[in-house]
Amino acid sequence: MRVLLTGAGGQIGQALVPALLRRGDEVLATDIKSLDYPTQTAVLDVTDTQAVRQLLREWRPEEVYHLAALLSGRSEEKPHQGWQINFTATWQLFELCVEAGVKRVFWPSSIAAFGPHTPRHNTPQYPHMDPIGLYGIAKLAGERLAEYFWHKHHLDVRSLRFPGIVGPGHLPSGGTTDFAVLMFYEAVQKGTYTCYLDADTRLPMLYIADAIRAVLLLMEAPAEKLTVRGAYNIHGMSFSPAELEAEIRKKIPSFRCVYAPDFRQKLAESWPESIDDSSARRDWGWSPHYDLPALCEAMWQAIPLHS
Ligand code: SER
Repeated sequence: MRVLLTGAGGQIGQALVPALLRRGDEVLATDIKSLDYPTQTAVLDVTDTQAVRQLLREWRPEEVYHLAALLSGRSEEKPHQGWQINFTATWQLFELCVEAGVKRVFWPSSIAAFGPHTPRHNTPQYPHMDPIGLYGIAKLAGERLAEYFWHKHHLDVRSLRFPGIVGPGHLPSGGTTDFAVLMFYEAVQKGTYTCYLDADTRLPMLYIADAIRAVLLLMEAPAEKLTVRGAYNIHGMSFSPAELEAEIRKKIPSFRCVYAPDFRQKLAESWPESIDDSSARRDWGWSPHYDLPALCEAMWQAIPLHS
């Protein structure tokens, strides 16, 4: 299958590209920065409509994985650019995919689409959603757009409300859940970490291998099985910075974390702690493989302890 990725240099893209190559796909990986990947690559600014149209015409992908985004923290710092990338470019891309006859589109939503009036525990698939951050507002609008394009244009857009994603090899930036990756690396490199969230802020998280498996399961599911056309809830595990600190200390006993919450604390507090993912389990067989100890074990296998 011929596939096109946007934002392929990010945390998800970096793991998804090898997974698609293993599946035997012909992959064109694009990003705003040039990529050094073992596949065809191109520099693409997703806000440049003509460039996106041109690439779709030339590459003729069956599937598009639209990962380009400005995460929650960065979107607060650069609100207009955030909206352009997270919402306007997504809308344009959906239109161009209809025009180009793309069969399926993957576009990630996020737990950031929930808000302070969303139930925090075991959050249902269809709760009240009142996101307070611009990233979450764009994600919620994008979910509505995905469903709109399915009904109005028969564009088969599929989406997941990703929680924080944790994995080795790529340091995420601009997000609210980034601490979970950064804490591992700083524990090894410095022995301390200053966390921008409060110690007890529990959030839902997913190990990267589970995230990639979820994307592929969802994209390979028969269209008639999918009952959610906005974005599916998925859940892996929940932990707070303090709980992660305690896990890391099992490996590096001298490790200490300092807590200095910044503006991201408010965003994190408006997001759920655990998610009801029964629709994903029922419709396309989702279940996570990694809990917190398994995640830590996988991270320690990938991060050299004496770097
Ligand atoms: N992980 C993202 C962030 O923290 C949420 O989708 O911004």
